[in-house]
Amino acid sequence: MRKLICSFLIVLCFLTNSISAQTRISLNLNAAKDTINKNIYGHFAEHLGHCIYGGFYVGDNNTKIPNKDGIRLDVMEALKKLKVPVLRWPGGCFADTYHWKDGIGKKSERPSMLNVWWGNVKEDNSFGTNEFLNMCEVLGAEPYLSGNVGSGTPQELADWVKYTTHPKGSSPMPDLRAKNGRPNPWNVRIWGLGNEAWGCGGNMTVEHYADVYRQYATFMTDYPKKLYRVASGASDDDYKWTEVLMQKLPKNMFDALGLHHYSVISWDKKGSSTDYSESEYFSSMTQALFMEELVSKHSAIMDKYDPKKTKALAVDEWGGWYDVVQGTNGAFLFQQNTMRDAMIAGSTLNIFNNHCDRVKMANLAQIINVLQAVILTNDEKLVLTPTYHVMEMYNVHQNAVMIPITLNTTDYALNGKSLKAVSASASKDKNGVIHISLVNIDANKEQKISIDLGDFKANAITGRILKSARLQDYNSFQNPNIIKPETFKDAKINGGSIEVTLPAFSVAVLELK
Ligand code: AHR
Repeated sequence: MRKLICSFLIVLCFLTNSISAQTRISLNLNAAKDTINKNIYGHFAEHLGHCIYGGFYVGDNNTKIPNKDGIRLDVMEALKKLKVPVLRWPGGCFADTYHWKDGIGKKSERPSMLNVWWGNVKEDNSFGTNEFLNMCEVLGAEPYLSGNVGSGTPQELADWVKYTTHPKGSSPMPDLRAKNGRPNPWNVRIWGLGNEAWGCGGNMTVEHYADVYRQYATFMTDYPKKLYRVASGASDDDYKWTEVLMQKLPKNMFDALGLHHYSVISWDKKGSSTDYSESEYFSSMTQALFMEELVSKHSAIMDKYDPKKTKALAVDEWGGWYDVVQGTNGAFLFQQNTMRDAMIAGSTLNIFNNHCDRVKMANLAQIINVLQAVILTNDEKLVLTPTYHVMEMYNVHQNAVMIPITLNTTDYALNGKSLKAVSASASKDKNGVIHISLVNIDANKEQKISIDLGDFKANAITGRILKSARLQDYNSFQNPNIIKPETFKDAKINGGSIEVTLPAFSVAVLELK
């Protein structure tokens, strides 16, 4: 009798949970057809602050920080676990000032340069093309080279293509590569033709850039393999930029258009990365969720010219941007990373997953020590940020088939404005395992979520969650493990659905078998 009452109470509990759910999600497995390109989980490394020097690279003769050929071993270990699929380099604004030939050959003979975009610091060019591409091979990440179109020449970019991709013996550039210790070409498929051509990349009009693009693209050789060309794309909601590029770039000359969008409260007053109010948090999330509209509208324009979606939208810079940490160089863009950043990362990646028919690559800005970094370093110390943990938890979606969802959720309201409290995305991997990622951005309230699995019969559910006591919490060099993923126990199978209780400002990834 006791057993019967217990079972009755459990069923009652599930039913009440399901009836009282504030968020309802349905998986539409029959409509699952598009693959989530793993490059959506891409990163960006610029010669800016301590991203390269001190972040990745500590010099060949460094005996204090364990390294191989100057590349930090702790960073490599953490990034391998993250499964970085693609890495954009050398910028950013820096790319249109970079002359790659200064960064090859014997290090003692490389000329120094002034990093005019980022604090006028002197760089010795000891980290150049060979160092970056060898590092990508160690990481298992595909390189994405951002070419200098703003202050370079078509010849310089054409030579870079030859130096990196042509077989030895075919012309002077690959022979120079061989002389520099690398006989075989690297696998460099993805090339950016300039960065922010509307701004630091040359302050061009889109019409002018389209012509310049055509000229540069012409001399980049598709030999021995076809290159993947990314045009410098729009800033935020500059829809004209996308429209004109779609009209003016010949179809056979490009593969993707870029898009840059930062979650910044206001460019004049970005606010502290750690000491922020709920209202500032709400503004950051408003900016982050605006990505949904941006991706939808830029995609709709592309659809007019490319209904079969043969061209990609590459969101090759995104992330939260705040004031630099007090006492650090203002030009180095070093900021801390709190649960707010976990919310930005989780929500944005859900948007990209759900738009994977058009968004085929994205690059979080930036990977180490700059903006919404996944890793922070300070001499020999290293911290994995909340954003790192979100990207690691989400990497199960890489190359899985996206499952379209319908989602009805309540509002997270503040000061008369509202945002959708919950965002989600789902995918099925090659072993038939389903992953569902859920974000509750509400700063105060937990969410009861009911997920209808449709035809899928789940036998087992596991999950991980990222949460913390305070929204403003972060991992510091003194306390690096305050925020890290934990086992999630508040998700239960209930017949054909799952009932979840998701705490305020948390991210969870569920696995169903
Ligand atoms: O990520 C920092 C800078 O932001 C990049 O160099 C530039 O492309 C953008 O404006």
